[in-house]
Amino acid sequence: MILSNPLIIANWKMGVPCSEARGWVDQFEKLTTPASRKHAVILPSFLSLSIVRQVDRALFLGSQDCSAFGEPAHTGSIPATDIKEIGCQYALIGHSERRRWNGETDELIHAKVIQATAAGLTPILCIGEDAQQRKIGKTKVALRSQLRHALQPLPEKLTALIVAYEPVWAIGGSAAASPTIITETHRWIRQILDRLPIKHSLIVYGGAVDEMTLPLICQLPNVNGVLVGRASWKAESFSRLVLAVHDKGSRLV
Ligand code: PGA
Repeated sequence: MILSNPLIIANWKMGVPCSEARGWVDQFEKLTTPASRKHAVILPSFLSLSIVRQVDRALFLGSQDCSAFGEPAHTGSIPATDIKEIGCQYALIGHSERRRWNGETDELIHAKVIQATAAGLTPILCIGEDAQQRKIGKTKVALRSQLRHALQPLPEKLTALIVAYEPVWAIGGSAAASPTIITETHRWIRQILDRLPIKHSLIVYGGAVDEMTLPLICQLPNVNGVLVGRASWKAESFSRLVLAVHDKGSRLV
């Protein structure tokens, strides 16, 4: 799969109720252009996925998670094959909120990468250090370990991958990571990814991205886009971000 570069990913989390999904898409279509929407990927809740797909068949969609299992005896799990069948191209895997609140381990995250890849989905793999790890100078140790566990052994069919660098201390906060931190970390992740036999890979930044922080972040080297939480929950604000990314497109690669 060829990835749009730059990408702007809307992580709805539980922030857009099912009852608002249709209106969100209608509004998004009104406020953006088909060309700008090529940069956008929407991650609705599982229950909103089919609603969004019905309203707009052209939107790039992804799930916020997928099952680590392929066999049917896993009550309550959503298989990657169903996510693909419903019209998704992507699956977000290993978000820090799932690591924290759902107890997701590195082993489970690796199994999810395998399931998503086998189903033909492009994984959006989240990695990020917490405040304590940064404070004691263990950022790279933490990120290397998350990458290694999620990707080794590398699924054979993995030809495209998006890594979302999301410092845990920036998610849900009022300030994004500084340009220096993002530049340094993305350069380092890029070096690691370039050593892997993956044909297409992008690195996006996530954590307190909004209209103020987006323009600067998007100009940094090795930043191939952004993952947006709160600022994607209203179609109006997400549309403004998408148009801004589209306008700056050529400088982002
Ligand atoms: P935020 O969330 O943009 O609200 O900080 C980002 C994320 O969790 O992906």
